[in-house]
Amino acid sequence: MVTNGARCVALLLLVCAAARPASAGDGPLLNGNFEYAPDGSQMNGTRVTGPHAIPNWESTGFVEYIDSGTTQGGMVLSVPEGAHAVRLGVDSSVRQHLSVTNGSYYSVTFSAARTCAQSEKLRLSVIPGHDDDAPSELPIQTVYSTSGWDSYSWAFIAAQDGAVTLVIHHADDGVDDPACGPIIDAVAIKTLTIPNPPYSQDRSGGSNNLLRNGGFEEGPYMIPGSAACGVLVPPMDEDAVSPLPGWMVMSYSKAVKYVDVSGTRAVELVAGVEAALVQEVETVPGADCRMEFSVGDAGDGCAAACDDDDANGNGNGMRVTAAAGEASTSVAHCSKGGRWERGVLEFKAVESRTRVVLFSAGYHTRSDGSGTLCGPVVDDVSLGCASSTPPPARRRLLRRR
Ligand SMILES: *[C@@H]1O[C@H](CO)[C@@H](O)[C@H](O)[C@H]1NC(C)=O
Ligand SMILES: *[C@@H]1O[C@H](CO)[C@@H](O)[C@H](O)[C@H]1NC(C)=O
Repeated sequence: MVTNGARCVALLLLVCAAARPASAGDGPLLNGNFEYAPDGSQMNGTRVTGPHAIPNWESTGFVEYIDSGTTQGGMVLSVPEGAHAVRLGVDSSVRQHLSVTNGSYYSVTFSAARTCAQSEKLRLSVIPGHDDDAPSELPIQTVYSTSGWDSYSWAFIAAQDGAVTLVIHHADDGVDDPACGPIIDAVAIKTLTIPNPPYSQDRSGGSNNLLRNGGFEEGPYMIPGSAACGVLVPPMDEDAVSPLPGWMVMSYSKAVKYVDVSGTRAVELVAGVEAALVQEVETVPGADCRMEFSVGDAGDGCAAACDDDDANGNGNGMRVTAAAGEASTSVAHCSKGGRWERGVLEFKAVESRTRVVLFSAGYHTRSDGSGTLCGPVVDDVSLGCASSTPPPARRRLLRRR
């Protein structure tokens, strides 16, 4: 059976064959898909023994060079891009020098698959980074795709001009098998453009959108042609750099998925109520605000027809909940293909900063029986606020006249 997940992998393979060996600019890192094999004299079996054995990379700890189809511990290892990847054992890393511009924003996209039972965490960092930058931990315990491979994103701001080192580190300890750890492949980079105010809406009219990147047109790198497979945007601390400019993903360990729906970028809410898409904006307390958003589906066979009500009451389609101020609303979507519903939430701003929040009210999997997590897709989020009383500074001016 060819599942959606398998199709995603096949696409990655096709695209890889045509991929340029990118250096500067957006695209795969040098040997980012590990197709250039290590020097055999610096190998012992699958284990990489020399730190500079893999072309363009430096490795530390227990790193293995994996051929697709290799059987290890009774498990056949597959690889998302090309025929090779690396496996990061306990306390191991791969690193590569990148050429960056001070103050610029970059997102890093890579594929990862778990190979061990316990939760696996990857730590991404850039050296040197900002003084207050702690390495970001990306939880990868939830598998979202059928193939077992997921594409993840992470972002950083360059703290200097010139060369920095990107580090992908697997740090879990307390594991008996030092080889135990995730497989990494298809590492790519993209310079992010940070939208400045006024933020116009990306598609449907209105020019006074208070939200940044409300149409999600700016986001992490996607391998061309694989966009339907999506890139996970993991949860992040409030002060972390988001690979989805303007937006935060608030969750304990779950992600949202950055997807391409018929040529437009959008976000698939794949983790139910456990992951929320959040943006904070400045508001005037008491102002009347109107938030609008579109709800659709990624055409990925996400099973949630509105009419075949089942015994569990899951027949109401997918549902996106939006919340802001003290108000919330919920919009249903029946995945019958290609249609978008427009949700509206009117509320009064309570504080000088207001958070708008979007999440999927339910959990969904694809109808192909693969168990792949999916959900409703949101796009074109806008927020406009009108203050009925002029702000204090303006009132003073008016009085003086
Ligand atoms: C290669 O690894 C095996 C198994 O860990 C070890 O016994 C052997 O000594 C290693 N060979 C070299 C040349 O390091
Ligand atoms: C990077 O840019 C910031 C802000 O412009 C500046 O303060 C800092 O000194 C620069 N860092 C380096 C290493 O050039």
